[in-house]
Amino acid sequence: MGFPKNRMRRLRSTGSMRRLVRQTSLNVDDLIYPLFVREGTSLKEPIKSMAGCFHFSPDTIAAEALEAASLGIPAVLLFGLPEVKDQTGSQAWAEDGVVQRSIRQIKQAAPELLVITDVCLCAYTSAGHCGIVKNGKVENDSTCELLAKVALSHAQAGADIVAPSDMMDGRVHYIRECLEENGFYETAIMSYSAKYASAFYGPFREAAESAPEFGDRKTYQMDPANADQAMQEIALDIEQGADIVMVKPALCFLDIILRAKQRFDCPIAAYNVSGEYMMLKTAAQAGLLDEQTAMMEVLCAIKRAGADILITYFAKDVAKLLKK
Ligand code: PBG
Repeated sequence: MGFPKNRMRRLRSTGSMRRLVRQTSLNVDDLIYPLFVREGTSLKEPIKSMAGCFHFSPDTIAAEALEAASLGIPAVLLFGLPEVKDQTGSQAWAEDGVVQRSIRQIKQAAPELLVITDVCLCAYTSAGHCGIVKNGKVENDSTCELLAKVALSHAQAGADIVAPSDMMDGRVHYIRECLEENGFYETAIMSYSAKYASAFYGPFREAAESAPEFGDRKTYQMDPANADQAMQEIALDIEQGADIVMVKPALCFLDIILRAKQRFDCPIAAYNVSGEYMMLKTAAQAGLLDEQTAMMEVLCAIKRAGADILITYFAKDVAKLLKK
């Protein structure tokens, strides 16, 4: 054993050799493409804080979803921006809400494409928190009841998967029970289980107009310093009926993804969030790195850590690159 019998460079010597021994490869089947939809007509407005992303309206969203489907992407994830916000976020479960109408449009245009919906109140409440605010605090159980209503309204509109992102305790239980009671046995739940209070949501909050009016999200989202708690969160969500669990953000939390993969048997999703996306875009625009190569390196790293499913604003770019 040892040099010169062993030369690690032998297996790196050509492209074919590297391909032969490559352990991790991205697949279009792994991708979820997030989309933003707001009230209006004929919209495709560039989002200032997120290069390459757009605000669509319910009448234009289907074309974008169809394009994703034609690239082989199996799922889109919808975020809605309502016209009016109120204390309880009532537009979030309105039958003719912006997300509900978009789901129907997409399902009509591309029935096979999975429609996943973000289930949260932050873009719908005047306080901009992920739950109902009473006496300056975000209430847990009353919020869960509303989240179940939101999830049900999405399922009724045709969503295949609902994805609660609020981090209230017990929301998966409330949602699962409500879906079962109403006969939606096949609606899957992808829970944002280990969601951290992260600075990397910055560009998204501008895009979704969902920044909190006061305080921060630290009383419900996880402290980035904690790892064991993430395992507890994931275990609880699985117990309550989650089908897919998520770690979010991805890049500062690769260790959490790895631990989750080693410990749990259900599919693990990871969200390469807006700040992570824009760090790379901004660096590329400044000429500091090659965007495509960096994009593939980042997404490959998230998959190598153990993610089965990648939620990324780069989804279409990756799909195009993989087709070549
Ligand atoms: C809503 C939600 C957020 C994101 C997804 N769902 C923002 C937040 O928690 O403030 C962030 C996604 C991203 O940054 O790309 N609760």
